[in-house]
Amino acid sequence: MKALITGASSGIGKDMAKILSARGYDLILVARRKDLLEQLKLELKTEVEIIAMDISSTFNCMKLYNKVKKQDIDIVINNAGFGTFGNFSETNMNKELDMIDLNIKAVHSLTKVFLQDFKEKNKGYILNVASLAAFQAGPLMATYYATKAYVLRLTEAIYEELRREDSNVYIGALCPGPVDTGFNDVAGVQFGVKALNSYDVAKYAINKMFKRKLIIVPGLSTKLVYYFGNFIPRKVKLKVAYNIQKKKEK
Ligand SMILES: NC(=O)c1ccc[n+]([C@@H]2O[C@H](COP(=O)([O-])OP(=O)(O)OC[C@H]3O[C@@H](n4cnc5c(N)ncnc54)[C@H](OP(=O)(O)O)[C@@H]3O)[C@@H](O)[C@H]2O)c1
Repeated sequence: MKALITGASSGIGKDMAKILSARGYDLILVARRKDLLEQLKLELKTEVEIIAMDISSTFNCMKLYNKVKKQDIDIVINNAGFGTFGNFSETNMNKELDMIDLNIKAVHSLTKVFLQDFKEKNKGYILNVASLAAFQAGPLMATYYATKAYVLRLTEAIYEELRREDSNVYIGALCPGPVDTGFNDVAGVQFGVKALNSYDVAKYAINKMFKRKLIIVPGLSTKLVYYFGNFIPRKVKLKVAYNIQKKKEK
């Protein structure tokens, strides 16, 4: 049994690696910080292959795929991602284009190539890490929220295609609210509301993935926002989202 996890050097991806290893999975771990991946490898009991790579380029995503495609991979978790904070007119465009390359294009291309292989074998799990942010627009984190909406929509559409084909291949989206990881430091923000523990989120996500849930929302308060968010008018949601994001400003 083997799983590939992107963004495994910290946060949710690192905890998913620990959980899958404890369940007996060999791992292919991908991220840029090789030292952190090597440290993690020492903690794990199953076989671990480290691929230190920046996957914010399609060329590298294909290089990654070509490197591992002959292995019998059961699970692919597209987890690597980051956000930025600020008024859209003032934030750094190159950083946002990098974000689109990682949060959208890497998820898109890796989902496509592994899905093709999984469909041929008629088995396999693809878990895409979106966010609660996927369900609405995010003033002050406009690009990040929009990237996660892409991940969610793509995943939902593929889920239905697979369902119609009676496929055994699973695809689903993890949609957490705030989680205590390296995310805030990278985005240059602080928590405005209480965050969930990363290990708990990872464990919940893996359990629900094996139960083949399409949309995985960990934590009671996040679930409440997810369900009741549908009944709030769009413009009200924009105001609320702005106020929540504003509290994150350092
Ligand atoms: N934390 C939250 O509140 C929260 C909420 C909802 C969704 N999420 C999502 O959860 C996922 C994991 O984030 P996290 O919260 O665990 O944050 P994190 O601790 O910052 O982890 C992000 C991971 O992505 C990797 N990564 C970043 N850029 C990369 C690149 N160009 N190429 C390869 N790997 C790259 C990082 O590794 P290197 O730096 O070593 O490359 C790191 O392992 C993200 O998709 C995030 O959007 C987070």
